[in-house]
Amino acid sequence: MGFVAAAIGSAVGLGNMWRFSYLTAENGGAAFVVLYLAITALVGLPVLLAEVVLGRGSQQSPVRALAHYGGNAWRPLGFVFVTAGFLILAYYGVIAGWTLRYTAIAVFAGFDADIADQFAGIAQGGDAFILHAVFMLATIVVVAGGVKGGIERAALILMPLLFLLVCGLAIYAATLEGGGSGYAYYLQADLGKLLSRDVLTQAAGQAFFSLSLGMGAMLTFGSYLGRDHNLPNETVIIAGADVGIAFIAGLVVFPMIFALGLSDAVSGSTVGALFITLPQAFAGMGFVGRVVGGLFFAALMVGALTSAVSLLEVVVSSTIDGLGWTRQRAAWIMGGLITLLGLPAAFSLDVLDVMDQVANNLFLLGGGLALSIFVGWVMKDPVSEASIGAEGTRWFFLWRLLLRFVVPALLLFVLYDAVPKTLKAVTGLVASFF
Ligand code: PHE
Repeated sequence: MGFVAAAIGSAVGLGNMWRFSYLTAENGGAAFVVLYLAITALVGLPVLLAEVVLGRGSQQSPVRALAHYGGNAWRPLGFVFVTAGFLILAYYGVIAGWTLRYTAIAVFAGFDADIADQFAGIAQGGDAFILHAVFMLATIVVVAGGVKGGIERAALILMPLLFLLVCGLAIYAATLEGGGSGYAYYLQADLGKLLSRDVLTQAAGQAFFSLSLGMGAMLTFGSYLGRDHNLPNETVIIAGADVGIAFIAGLVVFPMIFALGLSDAVSGSTVGALFITLPQAFAGMGFVGRVVGGLFFAALMVGALTSAVSLLEVVVSSTIDGLGWTRQRAAWIMGGLITLLGLPAAFSLDVLDVMDQVANNLFLLGGGLALSIFVGWVMKDPVSEASIGAEGTRWFFLWRLLLRFVVPALLLFVLYDAVPKTLKAVTGLVASFF
């Protein structure tokens, strides 16, 4: 499959739908959206290009790519990436399990109007763990080998379908009575909140998560590329598709929340914003809702699978390189361990939330900082590598400037606040068990 399609497959997933809606709901709406868009353009895009340049230039997996350009001192960063992959996939699989459950509900029973009350029960417990394990099994089988072509073909059909469904739902949402305050919430930014550090941190974490940045996933895709690719153009297309689908998802969720009177249910469990709101709308659409809802959650599940594959691929390719294991062995053992690590997330939404904060606010933002320093300052002449296939591009000066100064400065600023806050959330969680 083409690089652009594969990278979009990695980027587009639960991050665009579930996480984007949930964080927008939690952080007060439009201000978060504005910051997320700005950070994607100023920080996300330069780091995306940096990862892809690093991958294509070295033609190696993350750990080796770092050693190739920076020497062995940079190898440990590769292990940070692997840890991030481990941590993210462990709870990502749990949420993907929810999409499995919702697809089954659409097919076998139809959505119930009081799904909001059922959400907490669906999201946590033994069933949630089993569905996570089923999803992980599919991910492992794909990464272990063989069926990659099949899943890629499925994604090539289902991702455009997901896009069309989201657009259709956005139009449907616009016809609902009472959605106006939803649009205001989503689109009218409040200046005071724009300056909030907390919202900034969440927006930066989301920008990295949604674009699959800061942990070597995009680097890995880059390593399969030939020198005929125009990297700046292709990274802009990837980021545009990723942001576009998230933005339209917001145009579905927020008018619906207000039109269907779900504000209380959603503020009670922001993690469930998407999983509470959409089924409620589907329930009101009768049979059409079952069909549209079933297709929507099935397509989202495939989107989650292509993202999960890229997460596991980072862990597996590094294990193959580092420990000399076969692909089969690495996929099954690492995938199995990740499945077990999902156990606490499947049983408690609080644990899931803290894992998500640690992964994004510490690992991905920290990884992004290290990558920007690496490509901006350590790697020799990244601009000439980036120019191959893209001769005549005039933006490289700006790219290097952003990568060297703006990206590290902004990420340091964010991390200064995010690190103590996230560690506090971890200790708070641990304390709650005693
Ligand atoms: N970008 C993916 C999503 O939005 C998640 C992901 C993060 C995938 C990091 C790979 C690496 O769902």
